[in-house]
Amino acid sequence: MHWWQRAVLYQIYPRSFQDSNGDGVGDLPGIVRRLPYLAELGVDALWLSPIFVSPMADFGYDISDYTAIDPLFGSMRDFDALLDAAHAQGLKVLLDFVPNHTSDQHPWFVESRASRQSAKRDWYIWRNGAPNGGPPNNWLSEFGGSAWQFDAATDQYYYHAFLAAQPDLNWRNPQVRDAMHDTMRFWLRRGVDGFRVDVIWHLIKDEAFRDNPPNPDFRDGEMPYRRLLPLYSTDRPEVHDIIQGLRAVIDEFPERLLIGEVYLPVERLAAYYGRDLSGAHLPFNFSLLETPWQARAIAALIDRYEAALPDGAWPNWVLGNHDRPRLASRVGDAQMAVAAMLLLTLRGTPTLYYGDEIGMRQAAIAPGQVRDPWEKNVPGFGAGRDGCRTPMQWDGGAHAGFSVAEPWLPVSDDFAACNVARESADPSSLLNLYRRLIALRRTRVALSQGDYRPLAAACDILAYERVVAGDRVLVVLNLGPQPIVYRVPAGTTAENLLISTDSGRDGQKVADSIALRGHEGVVIELCV
Ligand code: GLC
Repeated sequence: MHWWQRAVLYQIYPRSFQDSNGDGVGDLPGIVRRLPYLAELGVDALWLSPIFVSPMADFGYDISDYTAIDPLFGSMRDFDALLDAAHAQGLKVLLDFVPNHTSDQHPWFVESRASRQSAKRDWYIWRNGAPNGGPPNNWLSEFGGSAWQFDAATDQYYYHAFLAAQPDLNWRNPQVRDAMHDTMRFWLRRGVDGFRVDVIWHLIKDEAFRDNPPNPDFRDGEMPYRRLLPLYSTDRPEVHDIIQGLRAVIDEFPERLLIGEVYLPVERLAAYYGRDLSGAHLPFNFSLLETPWQARAIAALIDRYEAALPDGAWPNWVLGNHDRPRLASRVGDAQMAVAAMLLLTLRGTPTLYYGDEIGMRQAAIAPGQVRDPWEKNVPGFGAGRDGCRTPMQWDGGAHAGFSVAEPWLPVSDDFAACNVARESADPSSLLNLYRRLIALRRTRVALSQGDYRPLAAACDILAYERVVAGDRVLVVLNLGPQPIVYRVPAGTTAENLLISTDSGRDGQKVADSIALRGHEGVVIELCV
């Protein structure tokens, strides 16, 4: 087995984790200071959202130098210190690799834009306008409006899947591939343990630039980008060759990990493992972010995902990230513990988003405080991502212990009750449940490696087994408020209750049925 198959991954949004120099923005020395917290939580690897030099139009997802640290976060020396300190505590470090687009301030783009004859012209996607005027085709930017920006100086348009300040690279150009492969090698040689690759399904576009068809399911009031199906601008068959190229670079180094960000239905996602598993090790599975929080819907999703996985492909699950509303606002406060148990008992590598382990909620952002460019571009569609990016809540002191200065985004106003210091001291807290679940996952091979067997999905009960030779556990989750009695399946004998979301019950003996309270989840040891 590879380390990442047994691992629990943890996403840090560096701007919001820990400020060390009093500028209200989190930084690398701040992360170093909090490594003991992460080691105690029990996670195995950190993925850092981008820390590279950037004008910050999209908070680091617009990179102007791929091989330098933005001074806002620290220096290269700080990065090396973080890598060493993390490794010394047994934590791997994954970086965010953003190969689809650069910043418009990147020297490559500056050169590309300078003239049609520029040596770097073809590093980006330049096209003439349509014969009757207007952009080359109907493609839309995910962040609103046409995906084509007119450049008056050279009388052509360039393509940007996101902001106009994020021009897309042309991955059909071998020089682009080589340059990007070299940036990967730069970090891999420095010792990073792998990458999470940004918008990997966007990397290559239709060679003929055909118009995207209308989306028949589009409804008024939805995000404008949904008006078309991005058939020709994303998820092209050629993308798998590009990903294979990234993977080949990863494989030049021992035991490194390639994760791909892919927002596609699980059946399409499966292709991102690549032919003969030569693609991403883990194409991120975001489907729990989009499935209704109902037992049947979740069970059906797990079945579809398990069925779609190619032979030998390793699954993974995600419950939150820096682009989606916080878990608590999707499933409700009462279900946060059950959600934690689900994430940490499913088959495959789980990824936690910073703050979810203490139950941080989606923060209310006043109109004057909006920072997210997506929300600014298309206000009123609920795109805003600031509310899930607020400072980590460490304690009940000033600015929640995140910074001595006013933070770049407001601290959520529940921080006096919801913070690490308080929850650490409370055995029944969500934080301590996460710690117990992660520890259990480490000790029970059934949980880290066992097969998944669905048992029941009815009303609010979701039950499944995890089984491996010599170890077998039963997971029963109550997704609703009503108490319920669950009968252990005929022919199986239950032993101990290993963990309940209600901490007082751990270790109880279980006979042939278990009485669950509302919103309770349990993991039970079964006789093998
Ligand atoms: C990814 C990132 C998101 C960013 C976008 C454009 O989806 O997760 O934060 O805005 O790519 O780079």
